Amino acid sequence: MNEHAAKPAPSNGPYTDLRDLLQRVDQIGELKRISGADWNLEMGCLAEIIYHAAGESAPPALLFDDIPGYPGFRCLAGMTNSAQRLAMTMGFPLSKKSLDVVTSYRDRMQGYKPIPPREVASGPIFENIIRDEDVNVYKFPVPMLHELDGGRYIGTDDLVIMRDPENDWVNIGTYRSMVQDEKSVGLWMSPGKHGRQIREKYFKMGKPCPVLISCGHDPLLFLAAGNELKFGFSEYDYAGGHRGEPIEIVKSELHGLPMPAHAEIVLEGEMYPGETLPEGPFGEFTGYYNRERSEQPVVRIRRIYHRDNPIMSIASPIRPPSDFSYSKCVMKAGMIWDEVERAGLSGVRGVWCHEAGAARMLNIISVKQAYAGHARQALHLAASCQSASYLGRWVIVVDHDVDPTDTFDVLWAMSTRCDPATDIDILHRAWSGPLDPLVKDNMNSRGLIDACRPFERIDSFPPISQASPELKARVAEKFKHLL
Ligand SMILES: Cc1cc2nc3c(=O)[nH]c(=O)nc-3n(C[C@H](O)[C@H](O)[C@H](O)COP(=O)(O)O)c2cc1C
Repeated sequence: MNEHAAKPAPSNGPYTDLRDLLQRVDQIGELKRISGADWNLEMGCLAEIIYHAAGESAPPALLFDDIPGYPGFRCLAGMTNSAQRLAMTMGFPLSKKSLDVVTSYRDRMQGYKPIPPREVASGPIFENIIRDEDVNVYKFPVPMLHELDGGRYIGTDDLVIMRDPENDWVNIGTYRSMVQDEKSVGLWMSPGKHGRQIREKYFKMGKPCPVLISCGHDPLLFLAAGNELKFGFSEYDYAGGHRGEPIEIVKSELHGLPMPAHAEIVLEGEMYPGETLPEGPFGEFTGYYNRERSEQPVVRIRRIYHRDNPIMSIASPIRPPSDFSYSKCVMKAGMIWDEVERAGLSGVRGVWCHEAGAARMLNIISVKQAYAGHARQALHLAASCQSASYLGRWVIVVDHDVDPTDTFDVLWAMSTRCDPATDIDILHRAWSGPLDPLVKDNMNSRGLIDACRPFERIDSFPPISQASPELKARVAEKFKHLL
């Protein structure tokens, strides 16, 4: 497609698959094609340069084509990483404002119902099937993303699909997978993650753990897989509920595991109890290499399924902002807002997870205080609900007149409404993990900052020194030739 040709407006209806969505992203001018970047460090570095240079503007999705040595294969980074692309993926009204998308998420959840997947007889993922001796994951342009990485990672924006051996539900998580050799990849799952709990169940029974790894798919599934849902709730059902129709799945040949019928590349195999290989290190989303190379379970790959001219999706964790950190912030903010309201909290006006905290470590909730203790209730809920619990650090509650997405506003509230001696609570021994650069035992502490006006002084708190909206509008109109 010619990048400069006039593009028709994208359709509003649900898209069929990643390729359809990609075309719509192109139509709104948010797709950048990059030809000739090498798998070895160049794709990762280009994503970093483009995302770090973006500032306030929305960086494009990056489609890598003509990858040296891999004719016909493409890689895609940053697919959901702008307000508009995320809104398109989720089926929300298009907006360029972060809080609009967060609010759409929260509004959707008011009447949201999960929709289980629908099994279909076949799908494009079966266009090519590679079996047993012919399996070679180096067939794909697997990127080496950062200079200090321990290997090439085939799964970064991936879906790791496993079935719980006890009660048969299917979990999907995004867990990194590093190529070990042509027929095996290492999988790193943090303690507490659902995939890890499931794997441990198989291993305790002395059984191999079957697994699928999808490495290119509908980005709605990536949004579901990369964010915490409750244990026992399948990401397929969650994603179907947002799509408004079931996700189509086909059964894998070996283990009958459900894979997205429209996926681009899926690997199938098993992990065996006691079988490990060195994995990592890997540049992480916090902006550090926090884990040393360590022994991790290995997936022995026995099948590869892929579409013709497949598109491998990439999410490259780096010192933020990264090619996925913005979308993670919006999703997390929407999920936290929904969860605290379900827990009974009223008066929430907005939630934002700051990109500097990589959508986990610096979260802000804004409330219209209605009663004594309301602000602290919001603060503690926003710190401890499921969506916010893992690897948190700072949570700030601000009044409703402060925009949680506006860092200047939030810092102003902290500077003027927070008394450090009485307005900072500390949580101890909270859920963290090996990627937290400060901790060693998978637990950390949380700083909870109440930056709201003290409720008992809410009516007598000093008024804000700024022009009224009416005065501003009148003066701006009169002097519009200057402004
Ligand atoms: C791009 C990206 C990469 C991730 N990599 C890992 C990883 O390597 N290991 C891990 O345990 N969690 C990783 N996560 C976080 C998990 O995907 C997330 O916690 C998710 O909720 C896990 O699924 P679960 O809740 O079903 O365990 C990653 C998330 C994203 C968005």
